[in-house]
Amino acid sequence: MPAATENRAIRLALLGYGKMGKMLAQLAPERGCEVCAILEIDRNADGAAITRENFKDIDVAVDFTVPGAVVENVRRLAALGVNIVVGTTGWNDHLAEVRAIIEKTGAGMVYAPNFSIGVQLFYRIARAAAEQFSRFPHYAPYVIEAHHQAKKDAPSGTALELKRQVQPFFGSREIPVSSVRAGFIPGAHELGFDSEADTLIVRHTARSRRGFAEGALLAARWVAGKQGLFTFADVLELSKEG
Ligand SMILES: NC(=O)c1ccc[n+]([C@@H]2O[C@H](COP(=O)([O-])OP(=O)(O)OC[C@H]3O[C@@H](n4cnc5c(N)ncnc54)[C@H](OP(=O)(O)O)[C@@H]3O)[C@@H](O)[C@H]2O)c1
Repeated sequence: MPAATENRAIRLALLGYGKMGKMLAQLAPERGCEVCAILEIDRNADGAAITRENFKDIDVAVDFTVPGAVVENVRRLAALGVNIVVGTTGWNDHLAEVRAIIEKTGAGMVYAPNFSIGVQLFYRIARAAAEQFSRFPHYAPYVIEAHHQAKKDAPSGTALELKRQVQPFFGSREIPVSSVRAGFIPGAHELGFDSEADTLIVRHTARSRRGFAEGALLAARWVAGKQGLFTFADVLELSKEG
């Protein structure tokens, strides 16, 4: 893997050139990244384009593809010693397999179902709210998420992560999660607490895909030259510590 330096742009390969891939390509030059390769599905079915030749000058590959492509992409990239940012959602059942690949190869990877900084803060606020409401069992917790009609997975990875973060406060009381797929919604998530008397809602609404792309590029610069499996929360925490 070429050593990444703070003085030059990080050389990226984009896996997937859909809505997120295009947003990343647009923002990359302003964020210290150079897009050196774009692998679309027509070139990269089953990871076929992930070869030593194609990746010889790449610091980090950024995957915004489809759930079924992620494990094979990670396996091939890690075998080449290329570090990875995965924004694709819907592959969480394979996390143990991905972790084993990263540990065995010594590659570096950051993954997150949501690369928005606002969502990371939303998780913190959600945990604080859940802690308060869990003391009053007549409040029923719930999660609702809404996305554009082309989104392939439901519930969203962000909704599942939100549930994972707050469920421990409610023990065996299952928190229901509901999904809406309609129109062009970039992403909205809400955690509600409902009682006979009132409702409290904590909501995050993405205005565009720009926030996700900003976060993914931050993660790409951060993971260049590192080893291990990290979440976006790690990137934000460890960046703060320098
Ligand atoms: N983490 C975050 O912050 C965040 C934010 C937004 C979206 N997402 C997630 O990111 C993923 C992509 O979102 P999107 O809105 O960009 O979707 P999209 O517009 O459908 O783009 C995905 C693209 O990847 C292509 N693709 C599929 N398999 C591939 C492969 N093996 N190699 C290269 N390209 C491949 C798809 O081609 P075909 O259409 O031909 O299959 C499509 O063009 C989804 O899982 C979404 O949930 C995450």
